[in-house]
Amino acid sequence: MKNKTIIVSNRLPLNVSVEQGDVKVFPSVGGLATGMKSIHQNSESLWIGWAGVASDEIDEITAEKIKKLSIKEKCVPVPLTHQELEEYYFGFSNRVLWPLFHYFMEYADYDETHWEAYKKVNEKFAEIILENLNEGDKIWVHDYQLLLLPQMIKDKRPDISVGFFQHIPFPSYEIFRTVPWREEILKGMLGADLLGFHTYDYERHFISSVSRILRYETNINSIHVGSRTVKVDSFPMSIDYEKFHNAAIEHQLKNEKTSLQIRIDQYKELVPDSKLILSIDRLDYTKGIAQRLKALEYFLDKYPQFTEKVRLIMLAVPSREEVPQYQHLKKEIDELVGRINGKFSTPTWTPVWYFYRSLPFEELIELYTSSDVAFLTPIRDGMNLVAKEYIASRTDQTGVLILSEMAGVAHEMNDALLINPNDDKQMSEALKQALEMPLEEQISRNKIIQKRIKRYNVDKWAEDFMEALDAASQLKEENLTR
Ligand code: ADP
Ligand code: F6P
Repeated sequence: MKNKTIIVSNRLPLNVSVEQGDVKVFPSVGGLATGMKSIHQNSESLWIGWAGVASDEIDEITAEKIKKLSIKEKCVPVPLTHQELEEYYFGFSNRVLWPLFHYFMEYADYDETHWEAYKKVNEKFAEIILENLNEGDKIWVHDYQLLLLPQMIKDKRPDISVGFFQHIPFPSYEIFRTVPWREEILKGMLGADLLGFHTYDYERHFISSVSRILRYETNINSIHVGSRTVKVDSFPMSIDYEKFHNAAIEHQLKNEKTSLQIRIDQYKELVPDSKLILSIDRLDYTKGIAQRLKALEYFLDKYPQFTEKVRLIMLAVPSREEVPQYQHLKKEIDELVGRINGKFSTPTWTPVWYFYRSLPFEELIELYTSSDVAFLTPIRDGMNLVAKEYIASRTDQTGVLILSEMAGVAHEMNDALLINPNDDKQMSEALKQALEMPLEEQISRNKIIQKRIKRYNVDKWAEDFMEALDAASQLKEENLTR
């Protein structure tokens, strides 16, 4: 049997919904799932994670159907009950770790029972991994929902190579130190042989927390944990460049049009110099959606000459709807969109087209290829793959990317228009600059970014991570035999 990589994440790339016993499968949304999916499809791997439904809310026949559908996709579903999801996923993961790691300290809600559930669910994942593990396999754990898992695996199987990649920021020591369970979390992560982060800053914050909280000896790229050396490095995640680029080429050659494309074309024909601005995110308070809308309002007030000439297509995919802050945000966004459309609309024009749902890949491509400007304004974002997807889809290299400095991806995109998402005026000026930017300048900026994403695509990212994991494991074996 060939050695495989076991990919482990909270969510599988397939998201199941059950309606009256009927099992429907949708692709999962989010950078982790969309980015890792292409790696999983093209490699010897098994993906372990949650399939999107509570295990105690379905019957055995449905559970069996989900298992079969998962096996087809080389996936193993982890059954999580309603209560486990409430406490581990909506609770500890998304009401403590998510807000804190994105510097929203005031949203953190510490609850001992959520922490206990988080530990138990990490243990459950560890058991399922061990059941599926063969000699020579490697394990690649992903993201903040599973921070304790590396050490849980190491306790049982010290011989197995374990890599961990964090898809969200790692905050500064001053933030991280506020977590009541900070030592256990760091020790859990340090069970990995290699820890990867998107940027050097996140890596540095992690090492500083280890050094100051656990008092372990650290170097630039490594941490001494007893007799073990744990490697730490940055690997900025990328996308399947060819998939987006080729889909954009195919889309432009296609004759049939979707109703969305027909409406976009109608708008462009009706108002000849009109421009489309696009934003795509999960509806999350870290994404700066309210700030974006307020900046648009400021812009339309200040520059009335753009009335009827610009339209924001804002796509927000529902996310973590059981967490109160997400419910409040949804209300705030509905109100802001209503206010802006109410204030500026004319009989033939509304400034904001708001879609609160997930769109199929083909329609995402339509939006990427039809939009003159991408307006991505996160308050804090681990990476932001949408920025890379937009640039990859611009086959003629036109288009302007307005991008928050607070996204990990900004480190790789100096040629985008970088903005501070808390500065309305700066965002409004960036919008004006983007809408008036000559085509030659757009092309010269995007050329550089596109070249980089093409060269450093998601395969190269995974290859680099795996090579570094092999090197870290080699070091571990040398230490064991010494
Ligand atoms: P995050 O991981 O925080 O959600 P990213 O920008 O890194 O943020 O990744 C988001 C991913 O989800 C992208 O691959 C994007 O194409 C996809 N996505 C976001 N919103 C939608 C939507 N409404 N419909 C379909 N896909 C979406
Ligand atoms: O990329 C960050 C991330 O939190 C992933 O871990 C996650 O899969 C994605 O965003 C979407 O969030 P969720 O799985 O909670 O819907």
